[in-house]
Amino acid sequence: MNFFKKIRIWLGCKRFELNRAADFKRRNIKVAKGSYLSGGVKIGDCTRINSPSYITDCSIGSFCAIGGRLVVRNSNHSINTINMQDWAQSKIIESDLRVVGFSKGDVEVGNGVWIGDSVIILPGVKVGNGAVIGAGSVVTKSVPPYAIVVGNPAKVIKYRFSPEIIELIKDVQWWNWTYDEMRRAKAFFEIDFKATDAIDIKKRLKEMGVI
Ligand SMILES: CC(C)(COP(=O)(O)OP(=O)(O)OC[C@H]1O[C@@H](n2cnc3c(N)ncnc32)[C@H](O)[C@@H]1OP(=O)(O)O)[C@@H](O)C(=O)NCCC(=O)NCCS
Repeated sequence: MNFFKKIRIWLGCKRFELNRAADFKRRNIKVAKGSYLSGGVKIGDCTRINSPSYITDCSIGSFCAIGGRLVVRNSNHSINTINMQDWAQSKIIESDLRVVGFSKGDVEVGNGVWIGDSVIILPGVKVGNGAVIGAGSVVTKSVPPYAIVVGNPAKVIKYRFSPEIIELIKDVQWWNWTYDEMRRAKAFFEIDFKATDAIDIKKRLKEMGVI
């Protein structure tokens, strides 16, 4: 690659990064300094990643609380060729045929998800809205909404709320409300969903106009 082409690519990347930083700031997104985000990473409003992480193309919803050292991968190496190292393969076979890029699909993380420290999410995994991923988990399979998963491979240990309450709130997409709407519905954010039964919660949500 000639020098001028390299400069053009560098300037293009720089402009993209500056635009992305401004967009994140405007939408209250924090991505810890030192993180790597590939070009196709989409992040929703007010999601915070607190310490350096490595994230390849994926979508992460709004209002997620993400600890640190999150790794999201969207591809595998081919395990069918004798060599699995991409750079060497292109030199040996003198072609652009890659040994990486085999994917089960991009990772999709829902809204209002809490991801503990040092989590790895593998290609193709979908994490449901409101789920929790425990510290140190390796997530190999999709996670249902409001489930709490832990371990390697991550398994559901429990749900944040009862099935009746999950049913009540599953269509309340509070992450799409404006900040003013959220503030007006302050009481909704103050509910302790574990302290009250589903009948009372339903009554209160109706009174608030949330359902
Ligand atoms: C997932 C988590 C929220 C669960 O908390 P909890 O509801 O209080 O769960 P408990 O401590 O009662 O644990 C329940 C069981 O799961 C196990 N467990 C909990 N977290 C685990 C984890 N991260 N990895 C493996 N097992 C875990 C416990 O050992 C316990 O097992 P047992 O039933 O055999 O005794 C919490 O353990 C966790 O990982 N928090 C993340 C902390 C973090 O990273 N914070 C910074 C990021 S913002």
